[in-house]
Amino acid sequence: MPQEDVFNLCSGRRALLLGASAMGIAVLTGCGGDDDTPSSAGGNPGGSSAPAAPATTGGNPFDDNGSSGGGGQQVPGNSLIAVGEVPVGGGVIVKDSVLVLQPTKGAFKAYEAACPHEGAILDPPFDGNPIIMCPRHNSKFKVADGSKVSGPAPRGLKSVRVDVKSGYVVRG
Ligand code: FES
Repeated sequence: MPQEDVFNLCSGRRALLLGASAMGIAVLTGCGGDDDTPSSAGGNPGGSSAPAAPATTGGNPFDDNGSSGGGGQQVPGNSLIAVGEVPVGGGVIVKDSVLVLQPTKGAFKAYEAACPHEGAILDPPFDGNPIIMCPRHNSKFKVADGSKVSGPAPRGLKSVRVDVKSGYVVRG
């Protein structure tokens, strides 16, 4: 490809990047070496010497690193999920390992999400259903205390101690 064609292709990308940047979209490109900034020593095959931009979209309550990324509110390091993400009268599976429940508004409890029979991830209850179901062999457990109601599971669910801190359900 002639040199001018490469330049024009990259100029086109630059215009596209400006448009994408205006929309708040991060775009990586293979064009490099034609900007005004010097390349960093040590080499970067992509030609870009800019450091990776930090994530700016709003907060991930599933992160364990304690950063919220938005709103200035610190996410507790042991957080499982934001309070508002757990439906009242239902539950949510967090990190494929914990079933967080909110049977009544503001009252949280949690169990290990793996069924004690063969380890299937349990189905969170909803709409005030007092029973947690295992989708694999239909064992049933009580929301109230995790005890087994029926099915092949050899025992009830193991409780996970949780508390509420700074708007998040955290491990207790
Ligand atoms: S894995 Fe849950 S009942 Fe079998």
